[in-house]
Amino acid sequence: MRIILVGCGVVGRSFLSLLLKNKDYFVHSYGFNPRVVAIVDRDGAILHSRGLDLSRVLKVKEERRTVSADPEYGRPNLSALEVIRDVEADVLVEVTPTNVKTGEPAMSHIKEALKNKKHVVTTNKSIALALPALLELAAYNGVQLKFSGTVGAGMPVLDLARRLSGDRIISMRGVLNGTTNYILTAMEEKRMPFDEALKEAQKLGFAEADPSMDVDGIDTAVKLVILANSVMKRSVTLEDVSISGIRGVRLEDVMEASEKGFSIKLVGSVNKELVVKVNEVPKDDPLCVKGVLNAVTFSLEVAGDITISGKGAGGLETGSSIIRDLLEIRQAGLRA
Ligand SMILES: NC(=O)c1ccc[n+]([C@@H]2O[C@H](COP(=O)([O-])OP(=O)(O)OC[C@H]3O[C@@H](n4cnc5c(N)ncnc54)[C@H](OP(=O)(O)O)[C@@H]3O)[C@@H](O)[C@H]2O)c1
Repeated sequence: MRIILVGCGVVGRSFLSLLLKNKDYFVHSYGFNPRVVAIVDRDGAILHSRGLDLSRVLKVKEERRTVSADPEYGRPNLSALEVIRDVEADVLVEVTPTNVKTGEPAMSHIKEALKNKKHVVTTNKSIALALPALLELAAYNGVQLKFSGTVGAGMPVLDLARRLSGDRIISMRGVLNGTTNYILTAMEEKRMPFDEALKEAQKLGFAEADPSMDVDGIDTAVKLVILANSVMKRSVTLEDVSISGIRGVRLEDVMEASEKGFSIKLVGSVNKELVVKVNEVPKDDPLCVKGVLNAVTFSLEVAGDITISGKGAGGLETGSSIIRDLLEIRQAGLRA
């Protein structure tokens, strides 16, 4: 399997280091020995048709800021679109930053790869803007679009949902954002008001300097759209979600709920409608996870409720989801 990697940030580098570290394990367990033939960042690319030396690439990226600074194989200013179009490869791994306003640059990269009959694995949540159309484009071109890292990172939520296919998923709800869950947990356990808990989350690296994507519920909504499309076969986009975040949650509300045996959580749910809002969740409900953990409960017609929980973010966790998706593409026999 020949891979083009577009994006060499936290997730891209974690993916490369997992390929390096577990090379023998992947060969031994799955006969999986992929060749990364191109890597692109903002400033250019590095190419090698026989497969790049990944430890060398990681060193160049760390020391010189861009992979294109490699004196032998570096190609400064070569764009991702040119690489996707012109480099012979089987799969594009797309891990550029999420942009839920325009979807770019990921949307153009993914479309270009699918049109060129390259499979795509992405952790980029921008796909929520046009998931039904992208899946159709992939099917039309006979290739696969895989995105298990977009929801739950290392926690295989989408994969679990697929395994439930013998039953009918009636509804689902989830705590899908670690940042807001950290803040709400700190409010309850440390009796901190919202602003103080947000500052603590920022100091610990759990929240961005501009936390609006998380605290205003947009990140949760994006993940809900991906779940609704891929698990419940709803053809929906971000515009179909009613969204409210956690900025208005008062410490008094959190403490009052806690005394009654509930925790306040930001919950995304897919029922008749798609809704993101704060809910009081009973403390003994499996959805009531603490800190940066995520959890999703699927309600099935026959089997009842099934919940999966775990770490919903992190470079290595998300990198492992990419490998999971690549293995599935390979098991399906490169061409879909
Ligand atoms: N981090 C997580 O825990 C996590 C979890 C789940 C999903 N995700 C998603 O995974 C994706 C990657 O996350 P990340 O944390 O790795 O982001 P990141 O650290 O910001 O890395 C983004 C990478 O994309 C590159 N890039 C940006 N624009 C580009 C362009 N036009 N062409 C080529 N490369 C470009 C950047 O290049 P430079 O290096 O030159 O700046 C950088 O290497 C995001 O969509 C994120 O939402 C992340």
